[in-house]
Amino acid sequence: MRKTKYSTMDNCNIPIYNAIKKYVSLNPIPFHTPGHKLGKGIPDEVLTNLPFMDITEIPGTDNLHFPEGIIKEAQILAAEAFGADSTFFLVNGSTSGIHAMIMAMCRPGDQLIVSRDCHRSVITGMMLAGVRPIYIKPEYNQDFKIPTVIKPEKIDEALASNPNAVGVLITRPSYYGVCSDIKRIAEIVHKYGKILAIDEAHGTHLKFSENLPVCALDGGADICVQSAHKTIPALTQGSYLHVKNDRIDIDRLREILRMLQTSSPSYIIMTMLDIARDIMNKCGRECFSEILDNINIIQSQTNIEKLRWLSSDDIVDGDKDPTRVVINVEKLGLTGYEAGKILREKYNIYIEMSDMSNIVLIITIADQYENYENFKRLQLGLEGLSKYSEYLTQNKTFSQHIVYQSNISMQAIELKDVLNSKATNIKLFDAEGRVSKDMITPYPPGIPLICPGEVITREAIEYISELIIKGCCVNGVDEKFDILVVE
Ligand SMILES: Cc1ncc(COP(=O)(O)O)c(C=O)c1O
Repeated sequence: MRKTKYSTMDNCNIPIYNAIKKYVSLNPIPFHTPGHKLGKGIPDEVLTNLPFMDITEIPGTDNLHFPEGIIKEAQILAAEAFGADSTFFLVNGSTSGIHAMIMAMCRPGDQLIVSRDCHRSVITGMMLAGVRPIYIKPEYNQDFKIPTVIKPEKIDEALASNPNAVGVLITRPSYYGVCSDIKRIAEIVHKYGKILAIDEAHGTHLKFSENLPVCALDGGADICVQSAHKTIPALTQGSYLHVKNDRIDIDRLREILRMLQTSSPSYIIMTMLDIARDIMNKCGRECFSEILDNINIIQSQTNIEKLRWLSSDDIVDGDKDPTRVVINVEKLGLTGYEAGKILREKYNIYIEMSDMSNIVLIITIADQYENYENFKRLQLGLEGLSKYSEYLTQNKTFSQHIVYQSNISMQAIELKDVLNSKATNIKLFDAEGRVSKDMITPYPPGIPLICPGEVITREAIEYISELIIKGCCVNGVDEKFDILVVE
C-alpha cells in the first residue's frame, strides 16, 4: 500500500475496527456465532485470499440474480449437499430468505399458520406480504422456562379449523436447539395439501451427522431457510434458501429474491457459502463425531449438581440438538445474565445468549482447534460459576423469577395495517390495554413478546420490566422505558 498516514492504524478514529481488534486481542473463547469462530474454521489459504474475493460481476464471475455460470454451479452443488431440488444463496441473512419464502407462499390477505416462538423476521415478513397469521403456541418446559416443541396435533387442529390457510411456518431448531417432530408435522401438513415452510436458521449443520436431529428437508419440508453463518464456517449474512418438491412456485420465488436482495451481492459471502458447503460435506461427519464426544465428556466431567444441561430427555414429542449447549443456572442462585457476565469477565468465555434462567452456547466444527483447549476452559468456567455464585449470593435476597407463559395477546389491528397507523410514545408502565405499534423483543433470542397490533397486558409489562432490570436487552423499549403505541 502507498505510504499515507493510513499505513499505520494507530490513533485512528475508527471505533468498530478498534473495538473488534481489542476483543480479538483478548484471545477470547467464542461460544457464539459466526460458526467459523473468529476465522479458526476457515482454511488459512482462504483467509489470506479473502480481500481478493471482493469482486463484482465481470466476465466469468456470473450474476446471482440470473445465474448461468459459477454461481449456478455452486448453488447446484449446495442443493446436492443439502438434499434440495433448488438452492438459492442469500447475502442478507435468513431474514431476507424468510421474507422471500413468505411472499412466495402467500398473497395479500392469505392466512398462514405460524409458531408463536418465531423470529421477528417472520413477523416483519408477514407485515410486508400482508399476511394474516394464525398463531400456534409452543409447549413450555417448566424446569428450563423455555418454549419447546410445536405439537403435531396442534397443527392438525389449526389446519382443520382454518381450511383456507396456505401453509404452516415453524421455527426448527429453536434458539435452544429444540426440534419439533418434523416428520409427523410434514405428514399432517401434506395430508391437507398445504405447504410446510421451516425457519431452519439454527440448523444448517444438521444434515452432516446421523447423530443430530433430522434436517428440515429430510423431514419433509417444502422450503427452508438456513443461516449458514450461525453454525457452519460461512461469513455473517451468508444463508441458504432451499426448495424441495413442487409446492412452491419457483419462478415467483426467484423474482421476489431479485426484489429483496441487493443488486451488488458480496462475492466474499457467496464464495464462503460455497466453501462452507464443501468443508461440511467433506469433514462434517467426522468432525461431529469427535465434537459430540467432547461435549459429552465436558458435561460428565463438570459434575456440578446445581448446573442442569438441557437434553433430549427434557423434550417431550421432540428432539434436542446436542451442539446447542443450554445450561440452567438457577440452582446456583444466578440468572443466566449473571452467569454470562462471570464467564466473560473471569474466564474470557463469550457465550451466545443468556436468559433469565439459562446460558446458551453454540458449538460448531470450528471448535476443534488447539486440542479442545476451549472445552477445557469451558469446564473451568462452569466450575468457577459455582464458586462465584456462593460469593455473589451471600447478600442477595432471592426473588422468584416471573414466568411468562401468557396466552397470545389479542390482535387489535391486523399486521398489514399497523405499519401505516399513527403512533405515539408512552411509558411501558402506562401501556396496559394499549395497542403496540412496535415489536417488543428480548434480543437475543429475537422472539417477540408483543407483536405489532397486539394489546399490551399487565403481565407482559411486568415481565418486560423484570427482563430489563435483570440485564436483558429488550428491543422496542428505549432507555427511558418509552414504547411506541398506536394513537
Ligand atoms: C430463529 C431465527 N430465524 C431467523 C433469524 C434471522 O437470521 P439472519 O440473522 O441470518 O438474518 C434468526 C436470527 O437470529 C433466528 O434466530
